[in-house]
Amino acid sequence: MSSKSHQHDILIIGSGAAGMTLALHLNPSLRIAMLSKDHITEGSTYYAQGGVAAVLDEYDSIESHIEDTLNAGGGLCHPDVVRYTVENSARVISWLVDLGVKFDTQTDADGHQEFHLTQEGGHSHRRVIHAADATGKEIATTLQEQVTERDNVDIFEGFSAVDLITRDKLGHPGTDTVGAYVLNTKTQEVELFRASIVIIATGGASKVYLYTSNPDTASGDGIAMAWRAGCRIGNMEFNQFHPTCLYHPEARSFLISEALRGEGAKLILPDGSEFMHKFDSRKELAPRDIVARAIDHEMKRLGCDCIYLDIRHKGELFIKEHFPTIYTRCLDLGIDITQEPIPIVPAAHYSCGGIMTSISGQTDIPNLYAIGESSFTGLHGANRMASNSLLECMVFAMAAAERINQESPRLQDDLLIPTWDESQVTNSDEDVIISHNWDELRRFMWDYVGIVRTDKRLQRARRRVRLLHQEVAEYYSNYKVSNDLLELRNLITIADLIIQSAIRRKESRGLHYTLDYPETLTEPVDTVLVPPSFG
Ligand code: FAD
Ligand code: SIN
Repeated sequence: MSSKSHQHDILIIGSGAAGMTLALHLNPSLRIAMLSKDHITEGSTYYAQGGVAAVLDEYDSIESHIEDTLNAGGGLCHPDVVRYTVENSARVISWLVDLGVKFDTQTDADGHQEFHLTQEGGHSHRRVIHAADATGKEIATTLQEQVTERDNVDIFEGFSAVDLITRDKLGHPGTDTVGAYVLNTKTQEVELFRASIVIIATGGASKVYLYTSNPDTASGDGIAMAWRAGCRIGNMEFNQFHPTCLYHPEARSFLISEALRGEGAKLILPDGSEFMHKFDSRKELAPRDIVARAIDHEMKRLGCDCIYLDIRHKGELFIKEHFPTIYTRCLDLGIDITQEPIPIVPAAHYSCGGIMTSISGQTDIPNLYAIGESSFTGLHGANRMASNSLLECMVFAMAAAERINQESPRLQDDLLIPTWDESQVTNSDEDVIISHNWDELRRFMWDYVGIVRTDKRLQRARRRVRLLHQEVAEYYSNYKVSNDLLELRNLITIADLIIQSAIRRKESRGLHYTLDYPETLTEPVDTVLVPPSFG
């Protein structure tokens, strides 16, 4: 039996924009443990390109940002949550600027410096503040510098949370969270983290699809853990596919920012012709669900492996200044984007659904919060508008911190929590089961639960996911845990939640498009899945 245990007032699982913003807003007298599966900055935040949506221009307005978000969300956004988020956008940006985040600026007509705001799909105004095309890196590294300076924050890199611990699971009255079991990926031991409040900030779940813009951390661990612990999960059928990821046989998916389209880049077919005007009057700047579906349609119609994004008209100087990361990455792969169009395909990008929370990040379980991409606040509805995600991470991390600070939580040591018991399991001699099931899962999710769905494909996916679930549950109870096994177990849960939600939705709305129900129903309703252990 492993005996290592840790005690803190607060346990934050995840160190992206959500987790780090929360840590920096909590009362410094609270002792905090912050976990990261990998290096502290490894997560979607670091790779964010386009920027953060915020109302910063005098000609823009809160009402306009709200309206655009509601429109992109296909009638399913929660208007109170949208308003709260947008009203707090300028506050988030001024906090980041005060911390030292360097956003791009330009000189205005009177010779003053002002922020350069870019445009992205669904926005009726230039309102995306950015640091060239590496906004996430700039934010993540600044937050990291601040967090590592805090004496009250202990950072645990290479620590992968396995499961939440709740009182009822220990046989005590009450359902509140009292900590988590966590795999130390260096020693392969499972350690006990006790805390009086636990926050899930583990990011999204797009790794459930074969092709994704997301880093490896995005395996939906927090959503799966919350489900097992008894939280309701909402709107999982709305997984966003980003229209433009680099298509290259030798490179894993790499995002080509929507900001290129914001600056006038055109989507073209292999013969050089434009096509977006056939699908939406906003053409390349229609919301993502529309653009991704249009590309998918054209690729299937023509039977081609990719289509192209052309930004050549902006000229070498502009391209290198505004999109240095994308320019360099493509050049490394032999594509000079100043001279030739970029081959692109859609790829899984963002989980609009997640753990249901209140406006302060509280979940169904007492003392358990969820923030960032793992949460379902109601902001994004059926389709997230570009650059509203980093904003959501920070707005709701601040809101959760305010709430937690009011509670002044202190670790209460009144409960005997057993350490992780490995006495009944052995080392696996069949790791091939993990790699095989991993590939199978991600492929059938891509083929059957992708951009365009049908009942038949969803039922097929459901049968397969149930089989995988049985196999992996058996494997999990017989063998020692590893990070790969934990992620596979979680991804199977995520796939099941996505499929169940998609089967329930008998209409097409936003990111969920099915040939069997092409119409949108008049009454917008969230899909809420209730776990067997709920309440
Ligand atoms: P993440 O930043 O993904 O962090 C998750 C953290 O949880 C990591 O530290 C990870 O190690 C940790 N973790 C996960 N599981 C466990 C576990 N079991 N145990 C311990 N730790 C765990 N949004 C925008 O608004 N603007 C953009 O320009 C933009 N560009 C994007 C570009 C790319 C390529 C991608 C992938 C996403 C982009 N997004 C953008 C979306 C946005 O970046 C993410 O939604 C957001 O960063 C999520 O932040 P987060 O803090 O919730 O999670
Ligand atoms: C991008 O730069 O296209 C990503 C923006 C986002 O996901 O919001």
